[in-house]
Amino acid sequence: MSEARTKGKRPSESAVVISRLMNPSDANPLGIVHGGEILKMVDEAGGLSAMRHARSPVVTVRLDSMTFLEPIYVGDLVIVKAMVNWVGRTSMEVGIRVEAENPVTGQRTHTNSAYAVYVALDDQGRPKPVPPLILETEEEKRRWREAEERQQIRLSQRRAKERLSSNR
Ligand SMILES: CC(C)(COP(=O)(O)OP(=O)(O)OC[C@H]1O[C@@H](n2cnc3c(N)ncnc32)[C@H](O)[C@@H]1OP(=O)(O)O)[C@@H](O)C(=O)NCCC(=O)NCCS
Repeated sequence: MSEARTKGKRPSESAVVISRLMNPSDANPLGIVHGGEILKMVDEAGGLSAMRHARSPVVTVRLDSMTFLEPIYVGDLVIVKAMVNWVGRTSMEVGIRVEAENPVTGQRTHTNSAYAVYVALDDQGRPKPVPPLILETEEEKRRWREAEERQQIRLSQRRAKERLSSNR
């Protein structure tokens, strides 16, 4: 087993926070930010966290559905926090939380959360083993258990899709 695989890492070691001020070019004519801008930031933060964990390039293999709970407006500061919840052999689930802050009033709103799965790649672009995740807190253990259940569901959906397309 390679050293990268055996030496574990804590979720806090790869946690990421990115933030960006929303401009008129990010929004519709009503000043409400496009969902796609937020999705891009979500994938960027999630991918960075996965890369930090794996210390290798990664690709997004799955971005779970995302519900926008509150609108984000031009002039808001968008803050995206990402943390590795679970690791498999070559895949990692990252939990991503989006908040919008009105910099004038200081009011912060949780606008959405998402889960994404990334796969680490080697120099040949093939899936590569990632380090184990060291879980210390009860919160981290709960996140792992819930992520593992979600991953089971994703993989069974993938198998069902593969069965459907092989029957066509
Ligand atoms: C990601 C990719 C390399 C995986 O290739 P693959 O042939 O499916 O490889 P595997 O079947 O060995 O899967 C690799 C890992 O991904 C996981 N995985 C594959 N499909 C998945 C899905 N739909 N949901 C969740 N995890 C998935 C597997 O469980 C496996 O994890 P593990 O090693 O921890 O057990 C390949 O699908 C790919 O290149 N996809 C395109 C990615 C891309 O372009 N993304 C957008 C731009 S970044």
